[in-house]
Formats: sequence, structure tokens, C-alpha cells
Amino acid sequence: MSRTLPQERPRRLRSTPAIRRLVRQHRLSVADLVLPMFVREGLREPHPISAMPGVVQHSRDSLRVAATEAVAAGVGGLMVFGVPEHRDALGSGATDADGILNVALTDLRAELGDDTVLMADLCLDEFTDHGHCGVLDAAGRVDNDATLERYAQMAVAQAVAGAHVVGPSGMMDGQVKVVREALDEQGHQDVAVLAYTAKYASAHYGPFREAVGSTLRGDRSTYQQDPANRTEALRELRLDLAEGADLVMVKPALPYLDVLSDVAAASDVPVAAYQVSGEYAQIEAAAARGWIDRDRAVTETLTSIKRAGADLVLTYYAVTMAGLLAKADRS
Ligand code: PBG
Repeated sequence: MSRTLPQERPRRLRSTPAIRRLVRQHRLSVADLVLPMFVREGLREPHPISAMPGVVQHSRDSLRVAATEAVAAGVGGLMVFGVPEHRDALGSGATDADGILNVALTDLRAELGDDTVLMADLCLDEFTDHGHCGVLDAAGRVDNDATLERYAQMAVAQAVAGAHVVGPSGMMDGQVKVVREALDEQGHQDVAVLAYTAKYASAHYGPFREAVGSTLRGDRSTYQQDPANRTEALRELRLDLAEGADLVMVKPALPYLDVLSDVAAASDVPVAAYQVSGEYAQIEAAAARGWIDRDRAVTETLTSIKRAGADLVLTYYAVTMAGLLAKADRS
């Protein structure tokens, strides 16, 4: 019997490291990676986060040092989250110039100037005693429009403290518009808005709860998106673009690559994706058991996120990946 030989041989382009490198379509660059960082009020030393091995809650001092190191490693930006000592129903610490997030932003801007892109999480959940992303009405429901007022104040406080970018992450309707208007009214036209456009109600935020000492009981299903919905992300995108978003984001990343791909195809502003705490924890947990190769898993997941359409990626691996890329350059 005569065999038909393959007419096409895709393996040819995989045959040596040099040819694979030549035809590689997507490349990670450390400049595209943003490092999320936690700063906790009252700490003298960094405090480990058990569900995120290698990630810590920083003191004000250790945050400055780690941020400077990350910028030296080439990361494209920093996203800062604050963990206050005291919380209340309105999340007062979020708008107080002396609140931990605002003082940390002030520290970092003084230290780093315009050498990096300083981003601030714009959400009340770290600052409220009930742990929700907004303020509650008399019936205990998250009050969308009352929350918008708080976000407007928070945006201005963060801009005054030195944020280049504010990231409204609470999934309230109309949040981008009120933040944009408040910034403009107060003369902060240059502060950009990174909209958490498609943010899903995800189990993958689990370790983040520990990272910010969250007091939340229940979940965020009345404001974050249902994981089963794909088209809704495009509706959120349309609204955020109309409201003035400078950048849009999909979150989590790896479980939502289809959404990311949709958003990237439809957006005319840069698209970010957030590789969240649970995505990090899964890699760390499996790697610690020797079940997967950590460095390869980090590289592969970040590459996949870029391949799906992300222009930039928020990842706790930003500095790790900088090291891996530097090593690859030397090899
Ligand atoms: C809300 C916020 C959350 C995360 C980022 N911003 C928590 C939530 O929505 O429940 C999660 C990030 C992560 O899991 O790494 N302030």
C-alpha cells in the first residue's frame, strides 16, 4: 500500500529554538505588566498573606522599597490597594487624605514621580465595615447612586494624593462617568480612568479577601457579573467607553479569555486583564507540590492572556516575570 506523505509540515517552523523564536507571534514585555501591591495601616514589618505565598501586606516603608525595586525591574505600573486599621459604614478611610491608601499614594508619588504609572484601586470594600464595594441603604442593599457620590470623592482624594490612574472596581452603574466628571471639575483632567469593565463575581478572588482583611459576608452577585454571561461584557464596554474610560479591563483573566477576546475586538482603548489572586494561588499551590513547573506556568498563562487580546496585564507575577524575561534574554 502506498502511503500519502503529508503535504504540509508545520513542524518545520518548530524545529529549532531559533526558528521558533523567529516566528513567535506574541511576546511578553515587562513594560506591559502592572504589579498590584497591598499596604496595611499600622504595620512595622511586611506581613505575609498565607493564601498568596510570596505576596505580602506592606508597611508604608516596605511598600516604598518594593515599589522602587519593581520599577527598577521594569514593570509598567503599580496598582495599590489599602488596608485600613478601622472601618466604618461609609468607608471614610477611602476619602480621608490621611487614609492608608492616600498616604501610600503620596509616598509613592514623592518617591517615584513620573517614573512609573501609579494606579489606585477605587472601591470602598477595603474601607467599609460590612465589606461591600458600596454604601448600603436602609434595607442593607448596596445603594448604587449613594455609592457614586463616595466614588467621586474617592477619585479626587486619590488624584490629589498623586495617582496617575484611578481604577473604579466596584461595578456600580455610572461609576466611570461620575469619576471622570469629579476629576475634571477639580482640575485633574490628566488623571486617567482604568475601568473595571467586565468584572465577574468570581471564586478566584478568594485569597484577595485575606490580603485586604475583608469582612464581607455573602457575595457580590448583585453588582459583579454572572460568570455565565458573555454578551453582557460588551454592554458594559459600550457604557464605559461612552462614559469616558481611558482603559478597560476584564477580570479575572484566564477563566475569561473568551470575554477578553470579545472586549479586545470591540475596544478602541487599551485593554487590560487582571490575573487575580486565585489564579496566582492555584499556580503557587500546584507548583509547591511539584505538580506543575511554576516558571513555565507563569509564562504560559501570561502569554495566553496577551494572545487573547490584553494590551496590559495586572499580575502578582510582574516582578517574577521580569526576572524570567531577563534570564531568557541572557540565555
Ligand atoms: C475590589 C477588588 C477586588 C479585587 C480587586 N479589586 C475584590 C473583589 O471584587 O471581591 C480582587 C483582586 C484579586 O483577587 O487579586 N476592591
